[in-house]
Amino acid sequence: MKKLGRNDPCWCNSGKKYKKCHADFDEKIEHFKNMGHEVPPHEIIKTPEQIEGIRASGKINIAVLDYVAENIHAGMSTEEIDRLVYEKTTELGAIPAPLNYEGFPKSVCTSINDQVCHGIPSPDVIIQEGDIINVDVSTIYNGYFSDSSRMFCIGEVSPEARRLVEVTKECIEKGLEQVKPWGFLGDMGQAVHEHALKNGYSVVEEVGGHGVGLEFHETPFVSYVSHHGEEMLMVPGMVFTIEPMVNKGDHEVVIDDENDWIIYTADGSLSAQWEITVAVTEDGYEVLAY
Ligand code: MF3
Ligand code: CO
Repeated sequence: MKKLGRNDPCWCNSGKKYKKCHADFDEKIEHFKNMGHEVPPHEIIKTPEQIEGIRASGKINIAVLDYVAENIHAGMSTEEIDRLVYEKTTELGAIPAPLNYEGFPKSVCTSINDQVCHGIPSPDVIIQEGDIINVDVSTIYNGYFSDSSRMFCIGEVSPEARRLVEVTKECIEKGLEQVKPWGFLGDMGQAVHEHALKNGYSVVEEVGGHGVGLEFHETPFVSYVSHHGEEMLMVPGMVFTIEPMVNKGDHEVVIDDENDWIIYTADGSLSAQWEITVAVTEDGYEVLAY
């Protein structure tokens, strides 16, 4: 990449001169890089217009999950959840991002009980009283991607299951408190991990979060077993997901070799996940989808 002159137009397309726009910002990033830190490439730093686009996509993602929340009930199939998501998303003028993504056959992921993530909706899977289920919705609107997921407790669930679901939600909040410019993704990851461990749970290592916005999955990979002061530097304009998968038992997972998608806990224990899309702002964060 050629080095920009101070009077050249800024790389962010603001139309301003580099020296009046991102020159100081880049210098600060360079300083962290020279100290040995992983730093974000320009491609993943969003402009205010792009953030606005992701925010609009996120609004639809939230509305689709609200619609699922109003309609989910014992006795329905996960295929019916898929239909709810497809119909609401398209009614709002958007596209479900999972559909045909790397061969994924449905519009949403529905992961029940010991399924960790990437559960495939099916007419044969009927949700029952006592189940815990993650519904993971991702939207493309006007070319912008958003991604969030929620847990649903179907009727009366066991106290252990409810606690797992609640603690996993708290993990997101603990992580979010660490999201601010010039901190590190590892500050967030460690906060998530510590809260899970403190409650006797484990966190999945192999699957994590990701940059999002202009693509479904952008750099960086976002771990929730990372360490304070490590992983990528957070800077204003970065957008990524916080989506820890928390297991009641061991952290090990297995993948269904019949479809190469559905991930289960290796020990058959319950797993929960919540997901938000978050933007790093000048002074903290903004949640764009939940
Ligand atoms: N929403 C999932 C994530 O958080 C997407 C999995 S890919 C899919 O990254 F094709 F299964 F949707
Ligand atoms: Co995601």
